[in-house]
Formats: sequence, structure tokens, C-alpha cells
Amino acid sequence: MRHLLEESARRAISYLEGLGTRKVAPSPEAIAKLAALDEPLGEQPSPPDSVISMLDEVCSPASMAMAGPRFFGFVIGGSLPVTVAANWLATAWDQNAAFYSVTPAAAMIEQVALRWLLDILRLPPGTGAGFVTGATMANFSALAAARHAVLSRAGWNVEADGLFGAPPITVVVGEEAHSTLFKSLGLLGLGRKRVVRVPVDAQGRMRADALPPISGPTIVCTQAGNVNTGAFDPVGEVCEKVHAAGAWVHVDGAFGLWAAASPALARLMAGVENADSWATDAHKWLNVPYDCGLAFARDPDALRAAMAITADYLPAAVPQRRPSDFTPELSRRARGIEVWAALKSLGRQGLAEMIERSCRHARRFADGLRAAGFQVLNDVVLNQVLVVFGDAERTDRVIAELQTEGTCWCGSTVWQGRTAMRISVSCWATSEADVEKSLEAMLRIARKHAQK
Ligand SMILES: Cc1ncc(COP(=O)(O)O)c(C=O)c1O
Repeated sequence: MRHLLEESARRAISYLEGLGTRKVAPSPEAIAKLAALDEPLGEQPSPPDSVISMLDEVCSPASMAMAGPRFFGFVIGGSLPVTVAANWLATAWDQNAAFYSVTPAAAMIEQVALRWLLDILRLPPGTGAGFVTGATMANFSALAAARHAVLSRAGWNVEADGLFGAPPITVVVGEEAHSTLFKSLGLLGLGRKRVVRVPVDAQGRMRADALPPISGPTIVCTQAGNVNTGAFDPVGEVCEKVHAAGAWVHVDGAFGLWAAASPALARLMAGVENADSWATDAHKWLNVPYDCGLAFARDPDALRAAMAITADYLPAAVPQRRPSDFTPELSRRARGIEVWAALKSLGRQGLAEMIERSCRHARRFADGLRAAGFQVLNDVVLNQVLVVFGDAERTDRVIAELQTEGTCWCGSTVWQGRTAMRISVSCWATSEADVEKSLEAMLRIARKHAQK
């Protein structure tokens, strides 16, 4: 075992050390070699070290350097080295994080990490929370708490009786809500399409002046951090307008909620703390390994009512927080360990610096692209930049060549009718030199296509 694990650690370290110098996207040749995996399952066992060497030799070159400093697609953080190390230790422990009484270390560490998170994310003390796989499940869990609360106020027990015959719930969303929010609504039986859509402004912010009149059980879904522009809905204003009518306000802050950690960005967060529930990801801007999302509900009992179960063979209630009372899963890995390690290692200042650094890099990209005559479509308020290199076809050609050339990796999007390249800066490892190197590649390729 020792040799196998040490050899695997050696391979992993060498992979991580190579991230800054390799091409970001895997080569077509490396992808073609994945065919070696497509073999019949052997009758006889394979030696474990040959399994690991095959994994590394076939799959490492065919992986995207997502954990590296010049991957700017989607919204993807890397993993702080301390979180990779914590993850290795936690994997060795192999704790099922459901119960305090059987896995006290995992439960305690989650509890401490959650207390720190409420503080750093400026959420109300006493807020209930659960560790889930990502923002999709965090939205799902928080909206399950919302569904419980608004129906319970109308005298209906949704956990016991389901939605058949229940009082109807009005769900209000901004036109620019993330696609996964609709998936969460669908999973909860609230319907992907059965929503009232509120118009947005040019940055994708919900227009609080265009909210519909609210009556009856209502959930209003807002967003802190639009995936394309980084813009924040005016959550405080929305809360003021709809709370009087008894509506529940949810915030999808998959990456934007981390702005709270930076005093310089706190103005974006005005009133976010007045909402009733929040979803975020730690695998994005906190830079912990996949997968790690967080669901928060101001009223812990609403989240508990939606999630908790009992069974005769499961441990009885103890005075300490029982992690599985707040999550859709019963058995799951102890995600809080990496979150704790990240926060403990960064401290308040280190976290603020990491968030601000990403935003500074995003502004540098925008300034460099604008100075070269290319149009930046968004106000760069956070870590997202949208740039166009001409018409849709030319922008697509630039993106395709940039991805193949390999200095960095950016994806495409369509923003309010225009095809654009997205630059999302979320990785702890991105340095000023990485930004300059990537900018040089973007401008070189964009100029080449401008001349065609
Ligand atoms: C605003 C927003 N919500 C939800 C999600 C989904 O997150 P996940 O892929 O972690 O489920 C994203 C992903 O980028 C996002 O930006």
C-alpha cells in the first residue's frame, strides 16, 4: 500500500507542477489515446500499480488543465495546495459525514467551517446550512426549504403530502437566472417553465421596479453574480418590496457570494443578508477540490424540515449539529474538511486578497482588450469579462484558435444577442504574468483574424 500511495502522490505532484507550462487544452493525440481505456473488463485482477500508471499515462495528458492558472472557462477555481493535501488526508479517513456521533471529527470541522462561512459571507448568525455537491444542489436544497416554508404558512405539509392538491406557489425569477436554477425548480416539482420572469437591465440585473404584485405563497429567486457579466441583482431592494407580502427571497450566489469576503466589493452585496436563503459554491472561488457547494437558510428549521429523516438503525439525536439533517444525501464525503483547510490557511485577509486579485486580473484583461480596440460588453464589476472580436463568426474563430493554441482557455457565450468570449478569473494560481501571457495570445490571434 505504501509504495502505491507514494507513487500516486509523486505522479499527482508532478501533474500539478506541470500545469503552468503545458498547453491548457489536451492535444487531439492525447485524446485519441483514451481509446486504450475502451477494453473488455478482465477476468483476472490487475496489479494496482499498473492501474495507477495506466490512469496517469493515458488520462493525465488528456485532461484539461482546469486546475491551472490560465483556464478561464465557465467559472472554475483551482484547488489551493492545502486543500488538495486536506482532501488526501480526508480520503484516507473515508468518513461518512452524516452523523456527529459516529464521525465526530468530520461533523465538528463542518460546524466550525460553517460558523466561519456565515461570518465571512456576512450571513445572519444562526443561519442553517448544508454541504452539497455544487450550486445546482445548493439551489435545490435552499429552494426545498423555501417550498416548505411558504406552504407551511399556507397550512400545507409538503414533505408529508407532496404537491398534489397543494396551494399553488408563485415562483418569480430574473430573465437572466442561471439555467441550473430552472433545473432545481423542475426537480422540486415547481416547474422549469411555470415561473414569472422579471425583465433585466443591460448587465442582466433583475429590475426591482418591474417585480409583479406579490400575493399568496411566493418564492423570489435573485442572483448575486451573473455567470456572463458578474452583475448582482438588487437583492436588498427586492427584499424590501416582497418581504412585506410574505414572499421568500432566495439568492443564487454560486460565485458572487464570495464578494462578501472583500471589503472593497462589499457594496455589490447591499441587502443580500436580508434574503431568506442563499446558494454558493466552494469549488469555484474558494478554490477547494470538486465537488463542494453550500446551501444556507436563515431559518434552519425550514432546511431541516425539508431534509431530515429518521430510521431505527440510525443514531438518535445528539446535542451537536447532525450534518445529514441539512442535506439531500444521507451518506456523503466530508466536504467541510477542505473548506476548513482553505479558510484556516487563508485567513480573512488571504481570502479577501485572493478574491480581489481575480477581480484585478479581470480588469486588466478588459483594459488590455479595450486598448487594442476590441469591445468589452459588460461593466467589469467582478471577475467576468465579455469581449467581442467582430461579428459572431469572427469571435467564434478567435475562440477556437485560442483554445487550440493552448496558452489559455476561454469559452463562448451569447450575451443579449451577441456572440462573445467569456473570460472568468477564479483560480488562486493566476498571476500577473499569466494574465499578460494570455492577453498577448488573445490579441495576437484576434488581430490575425481581424486582417482576414
Ligand atoms: C450563478 C450560477 N448558479 C449556478 C451555477 C451552477 O453551479 P454548479 O455547476 O456548481 O452546480 C453556476 C455555475 O457557474 C452559476 O454561475
